[in-house]
Amino acid sequence: MAIETRPKLDAHKLRADFPIFEQQIHGKPLAYLDSAVTSQKPRQVLDAMRDFYETSYGNVHRGVYTLSERATAGFEGARAKVAAFVNAPSERELIYTRSATEAINLVAYAWGLDNLGPGDVAVVSELDHHSNFVPWQYIAGRTGASFRTIPIDDNGELVLDSLDELASSGRVKVVANNLVSNALGTINPIEQLTAWAHEQGAIMVVDAAQAAPHLALDVQALDCDFLAFSSHKMCGPSGVGALWGRRELLEKMSPFNLGGQMIHKVDLDKTTWNELPYKFEAGTPAIAEAVGFGAAVDYLNEIGLDAIEQHEHELAAYAIDKMSEIDGIRIFGPPPDRRAGIVSFDIPGIHPHDAAQILDWDGIAVRAGHHCTQPLMRRLGVAATTRASFYLYTIPEEIDRLVEGLHKVKRALG
Ligand code: ALA
Repeated sequence: MAIETRPKLDAHKLRADFPIFEQQIHGKPLAYLDSAVTSQKPRQVLDAMRDFYETSYGNVHRGVYTLSERATAGFEGARAKVAAFVNAPSERELIYTRSATEAINLVAYAWGLDNLGPGDVAVVSELDHHSNFVPWQYIAGRTGASFRTIPIDDNGELVLDSLDELASSGRVKVVANNLVSNALGTINPIEQLTAWAHEQGAIMVVDAAQAAPHLALDVQALDCDFLAFSSHKMCGPSGVGALWGRRELLEKMSPFNLGGQMIHKVDLDKTTWNELPYKFEAGTPAIAEAVGFGAAVDYLNEIGLDAIEQHEHELAAYAIDKMSEIDGIRIFGPPPDRRAGIVSFDIPGIHPHDAAQILDWDGIAVRAGHHCTQPLMRRLGVAATTRASFYLYTIPEEIDRLVEGLHKVKRALG
């Protein structure tokens, strides 16, 4: 019987696609270990955007001349790629937004204001980024609904035993949760949560900002109702993201932003709305950025999401193993096989900002802070953590440099 082996990616080779690695920082090669905050960009994406600006740039859906038609074809062609990337049943269900944050705000406002009220419950988790926490807390407050959180255990995994208690607290109308935690890397059981949400008659909103760069996504298999993600974490440009939504829900929802392009007909006393997806795309969109988003999707597909996921599991396992040797270190989050390439840690007595500053002198970039997850930090009993996060271009040698750098930090400050 033939044994199937998954093709591995060659991170050393892929690094050559990224011009940012050609420079030195403070005289040292750049070790970019902050891809969860934003990813670096390959030439393939930069070239696609440059080529578009040089040959095809115009506004979209507005002109009958050649440039506008080319721009529209580029913009809509990219939409088709992004929609296929998450296996959306239709491109019409794929709305361009500025970011994953804006995508979640769109649902919270346009769905939440009309569908939540007293007696209803909006559920997020203690593990959620502020972008999926604050909008639901705020809209619940505005509508008189209650706002509840799924707790996490000491490993940073959702305590699903708490769901029955949540269900008894009112009519659960929306469950919003991240697929991958930005702070701990936890991969959450979204299929299970979705099944529970649907049993309650609730909609399921998935924040996939940290999942889309790292795992193959399929909205039909997840069976969720909305899924938000962002180009800049996926090797694409900043300023553009996407919301996938179930057509029947999007059709019923009020618009979010109002203005040009999202209208069907404007009269002095009444305006009617454009068809999907344009109802939710008021104003001139991020056109070249959308084209870059499409090129980023091509780039990731070419490498293979399975290979990227595998590479990150290996890096996370390697990092946790090496970092555990550092005396006193506390590493947060689940075992490597249940996390993406994100490792958050604390070295008692050393402030994460000081650690990040000293690492930067050696050309090593990590994030220090609360990672836009203040409730989670309180749950972990820390004000902040230091976080190293990996991507398809991360090589084990960078993790070795991080570990050496942390020994240096301890010698300097410990
Ligand atoms: N969500 C981004 C991060 O985790 C900003 O760093």
